[in-house]
Parts: sequence; structure tokens; C-alpha cells
Amino acid sequence: MRRSQHLHVAFLASVFVFFAPEETRGVVTGRSGKATLGERTTTTGASSDATAFAPPPSFPSTTSTSSVVDGTALPLFRINLDDPPRLRWEGVMRANKAAVRETMSDIFAKLPREVHAEVDKLVLDARGRLPSWVIEELTGVADVLDMSLADVVLVNLFFEITPFCTSIVAQSSESGGGKLLHARNLDFGFGVKRMSDDLRKIAIDVEFTRAGERVYVMTTFAGYVGAATGMRGGAFSITANEREMTGPVPVPNLLKSLLNLVNAIRTTDVIPVTWAIREVLEDETALTFEDAVGALSTRHMATQMYLTIAGVSFDEGVVLTLDRNKLLDTWRLNSTAGTWFLVQTNYDHWVREPAWDNRKKPAEKALRGVGSVAITPSSMYEDVLSLDPVLNQLTIYTTVVITADGAYESFVRECVTCAPIF
Ligand SMILES: *[C@@H]1O[C@H](CO)[C@@H](O)[C@H](O)[C@H]1NC(C)=O
Repeated sequence: MRRSQHLHVAFLASVFVFFAPEETRGVVTGRSGKATLGERTTTTGASSDATAFAPPPSFPSTTSTSSVVDGTALPLFRINLDDPPRLRWEGVMRANKAAVRETMSDIFAKLPREVHAEVDKLVLDARGRLPSWVIEELTGVADVLDMSLADVVLVNLFFEITPFCTSIVAQSSESGGGKLLHARNLDFGFGVKRMSDDLRKIAIDVEFTRAGERVYVMTTFAGYVGAATGMRGGAFSITANEREMTGPVPVPNLLKSLLNLVNAIRTTDVIPVTWAIREVLEDETALTFEDAVGALSTRHMATQMYLTIAGVSFDEGVVLTLDRNKLLDTWRLNSTAGTWFLVQTNYDHWVREPAWDNRKKPAEKALRGVGSVAITPSSMYEDVLSLDPVLNQLTIYTTVVITADGAYESFVRECVTCAPIF
């Protein structure tokens, strides 16, 4: 008890060190080996065979930014769920080792050493409460990185609490059936440009297979095993948006959130949301949109989150607002009422967005401008998710999904001329 109080004080004292926005670097760094659209690099996990993977067709891009990486398809990796969890991420981590180590050292450089040591101890304390697949996978990640398990767990928990995002589910009235489009921008880096740059280099799509068949696909950062963006083709897709930024000035809440998260895991039966999402994507009994909505409405979550879930048929689109232990609100598509899209950012949909971070209104206006007849994956990308400030300096990737078709595509985003958000 005393230790955690002491830690709390240390955390608050370090807030401004940890999160003071860095000066913008003068140079925009691209990553080497820019992939040609439609020719994604596929790398397989430990024991998977290296058969060629045919990527879905790609649609970008005409976005005018000065970045060379903007619109580049994320590299696609394949993981075989039949492999032991400890070995699954080996191929991914080998391919991304240097960049992940750099990202982690940039995160840890902002964490005072004594605070870091204390948090590592707390994380190890919580070890017995983590799902065994998480421990095993993260041990495998730590093995390849030559880093401690505590540090790898800590970074995974840190990622859990920080993403700002825009998620959209929209129903096209085209093709008679009302195809559902599910799309998101993931914004990350809390104003620290170097961290956003780090994350662009380790953002990946991962396809999980069982007995050689695709089970689901997700977008993540190499070394981060939770799913903030994922799809079970033909069944449902899920995107998670942070709900921790509730104060008038959100930045200082981050470290408090991290501490709350670690303490909640140590002392209760809660699960980080992105781990719960992976469990749903992987659960062979969760076959439909309503199965996914039901499963994610009833878990005890470790953080507050917005979950946008899309299915495959008419009006199967929802935003769940989750408090730590309970579902606060369910917001659904309703074509009878004319609600053909839902836009969720990082604020409750029933309150006004703060003036300094209003990505919702521009996105809604853009969707109305395109209209339900004309909306397609490429207009979602070009006309909605590429619109400043929906696209902003913190945006790391855009994913566009048609769950009914199993179509899933993710692209690196880097708009140096867009709004900084904060
Ligand atoms: C959809 O909206 C209509 C009209 O407002 C309402 O009567 C109906 O209950 C709504 N359906 C659902 C599923 O919420």
C-alpha cells in the first residue's frame, strides 16, 4: 500500500517529463523498402510454410502530403495458431527486432529509472493474473528482443491505454443489401513525433491461421499482442478507441491510467480490452456479430474503451461505450431512423467534442457529403479518413474493412501538414 502511494507520487511528478511534447524533428524519415501497393511483403511465423499470400486489391491514393510513406500498405505477417504461443511471434519479432527495440528504448527513456523499476516490479506481481497465452506469447517476444518479460508486458499495457482514434461503421445503400464498411484511423504518439515515427515502422497486419485456413486478421505493432483493430472475415470486425482521456486536458491522465491498469490487473479479475478482443476473434464459438457484441459487453475490462463492431448484414453496426466494469451505452445503426453511419472518436457520443480535438464533426460532414449511395472503401479512405483533422499528425495507420467480403486493408499514414491535435 505504502509502496503504491509512493509510486503514485513519483508517477505524477514524472508526468511532464514523460509527456512533454518533443520538438518537431526537421526531417521526415521514410522507412526503407517501401512496398508497392498490392505487393505486400508477407512473412511467416516459426513453423508456417512460406507460401505466397495473395493480398486483396488496394485503392489509395492521392492524398497530398509530403510524406513518401503515406498510403503504403502495411507489411503482412502470418502467424500459425497451431504453433505453441511462445513461438508464434518469432518471425514477426525477428523481422522487426531493431525497430521494436528502438521504440521501447524511446518509451523507457522518458520514464525515470526508479519509476521504471517500480513498475516492472508491479508488472511481475501481476504475472499470475495474466492469461497464459499472453504470458507465453510475450515471453516469446522477450526472447527474440533480448529484453525482460516485465518490460515487454509494460509496453503492452502502455499501448493499451494510449491510442487516440477515429472509428467509423457505415452502411452503403448500394448493391441492394447495404454493405457495411468498417474503417478506422489509429492516432498515436501523444504529440511526441519521434514516437509516432517509431510506430509507423513497426505497424503490421497479421493474419492468424489454423490448419492452414485464415481465422482472423488484425493490425498491431510488432511486439504488441492485443488487437485494437481486427476482423473475422464473414463474421465481425472490431476496432477499439481509448476512453481514458476524459479530463479537460487529457495528457497528464496517461500515467495515472497506466498505474490504474497495472493495479487493476494485480488485484482483480479484469482483462485488458485488446486481449479480450483477441480472445473473441480467436473463439471458435463466436461466429456472428451478436456473438461478438454479447461477449465484449459482458467482460470485466481493465480500461475504459469504445468498441466499434461491424457485422455482415443490414444494420449490424454498433458502438459500445465501456466503463471499467460495465457497459455504459449501446449505439446502433438504424436504417429506419436514417442512421447509416456511426463515427466514434475518443469522447462519449452523447457529449460535445472538445474544440481542441474535434475529429468527429468533420468526419460526419464528409460522410454526409459522400452519401450512402456513393460510399465505397476508396471514398472512405480518400474523402473521410484522409481529411484533416480526421487525418492528423498522430495518425499511424488507416484500416478499411468489408467484413462480409473478408476484405481487410491497412495503410501507413503520415501527414506532416495536417493538424497536430495537441
Ligand atoms: C430504429 O428507429 C426507429 C425509429 O426511430 C425505432 O422505432 C426503432 O425502435 C429503432 N430500432 C432499433 C433497433 O433501435
